Amino acid sequence: MRDYSNLKVYTESGDEIGLTRYKFKKPIGYGCGGKAYKYRCGKVIKLLTDVGTPEQYDLMQEIKNLKLNGIYKLENILSSDRYLIKCYAGSISKYYKAKNKDLWMMSSSYVVKEINKLMGTASELAKRKIAIVDLNIGNVLITNEGLIIIDTDDYDRSIDDCEDYNLFRIKRTIDEVLDSQYFEHFRVENHNEFEVQHALTFNDFTDESFQRRLLKHKRPIDWFYKEN
Ligand SMILES: Nc1ncnc2c1ncn2[C@@H]1O[C@H](COP(=O)(O)OP(=O)(O)OP(=O)(O)O)[C@@H](O)[C@H]1O
Ligand SMILES: [Mg+2]
Repeated sequence: MRDYSNLKVYTESGDEIGLTRYKFKKPIGYGCGGKAYKYRCGKVIKLLTDVGTPEQYDLMQEIKNLKLNGIYKLENILSSDRYLIKCYAGSISKYYKAKNKDLWMMSSSYVVKEINKLMGTASELAKRKIAIVDLNIGNVLITNEGLIIIDTDDYDRSIDDCEDYNLFRIKRTIDEVLDSQYFEHFRVENHNEFEVQHALTFNDFTDESFQRRLLKHKRPIDWFYKEN
């Protein structure tokens, strides 16, 4: 466990977060950039391993203020400095309980609605030239509130063709999620992973005309069995 006794972290209004008073048990997740812990009621505190930049701080604040549907609700952006230039040190977000839900088995209309929600989120960010560089299967949670993107710390403002880039990241992440969920049903039906990948390569779940086809089937799995 990291020793937080020397680390000082401040909320947007300049209050110091008592990291030493708070008992940090096992993190709920960690990567190379930081660690996330359950924090107080229904919240997550993420603390970076190394303090970030003022640009990262501004970007996280902008994302927080946009209050976009498909992105985790950010409650507070933390900085390493109370007054002067605020460098990004972490965030407090709403805790989303990840559900073991299988997109193949949910209704097609729900899946299409959630994918389009994320596409809308990606477009809104692109309008502000924010590229969702870190989006992957690890950073999208399947929750009671649908698909929720988390971990926006490393988003980038320097990518051209941001809209295309963002929409491509959404498509790839949805494919990753569907591909990772193939195992349960397809194995028993003797479909192999290759067939699922093939179907995902030639059908774009984010494409409007494909979605119309998908909606003719009750669930994505019904589309798979009938059309592949
Ligand atoms: N608001 C949240 N609600 C539920 N779970 C969360 C939340 N924030 C983070 N987590 C959990 O903690 C894990 C790690 O958090 P996060 O993705 O923000 O950082 P990371 O990927 O470990 O770090 P980094 O990408 O900065 O190296 C997530 O994969 C997720 O399981
Ligand atoms: Mg992550």
